[in-house]
Amino acid sequence: MARSERPKLVISLLWSLGGLLISLTPTDSAQIPGRSLSQSHFTVQAVERLYNKVLDSTIEDARLRRQHLNDSDAIDQQYFDNLDTITGNEDYYSTAYYIFAWINSQLMAHQPADKLLEEILPGEKVLIRNFFARVKVHLVKYLQVSHQNRPEFIANVTRLAGETEDLLIESYLRFPHNLQSQLPELQLMDYTKLAKSIFEGIATGIWSG
Ligand SMILES: *[C@@H]1O[C@H](CO)[C@@H](O)[C@H](O)[C@H]1NC(C)=O
Ligand SMILES: *[C@@H]1O[C@H](CO)[C@@H](O)[C@H](O)[C@H]1NC(C)=O
Repeated sequence: MARSERPKLVISLLWSLGGLLISLTPTDSAQIPGRSLSQSHFTVQAVERLYNKVLDSTIEDARLRRQHLNDSDAIDQQYFDNLDTITGNEDYYSTAYYIFAWINSQLMAHQPADKLLEEILPGEKVLIRNFFARVKVHLVKYLQVSHQNRPEFIANVTRLAGETEDLLIESYLRFPHNLQSQLPELQLMDYTKLAKSIFEGIATGIWSG
């Protein structure tokens, strides 16, 4: 695969994750009563913190490992360098989300993993299982306090906390979208912000490929 084709592939993969890019439009959460609003705010912060930790750790791992590899298909150093220059929580993590999707794009496209992905995958899966295990605790608590019930969703999160197959990665990428479809008031930051702006032709430089 030519390097220049990778951005387009990543965008189409993100697109195929259940209409991720178009469906993650902000919803109006103004109708939520005060007490549950602060509870939902608290839960969103906790979930984001856990979600971002996976992005941070995986990208750091990939950054270190790619320095030792000579793999023509692996991501360029400039993507990591560029990430370091980005400020603002949502801008930073939507860029991290995009790089994460890039690193994992062969899995989503059902192609053999390159050396970089082979090396980071085991650790990445451990991180994601931990993420689902921890997020479950917050979601169960939130459902209790807000007097709601999402048994199938919680069962899925529980299953993912023990999942070893590659579908774990895609489930992680889909999670913000799935969470919002199950509990619309728990809207995480827009992780697809960079992908959307590349898609719309707004992003320039290395991001537009
Ligand atoms: C890196 O890979 C390229 C292309 O596969 C090869 O020509 C080159 O010799 C390799 N360099 C090192 C240091 O292994
Ligand atoms: C639970 O997981 C199954 C299998 O991946 C999926 O088809 C279903 O939509 C999920 N349900 C919820 C509520 O997340």
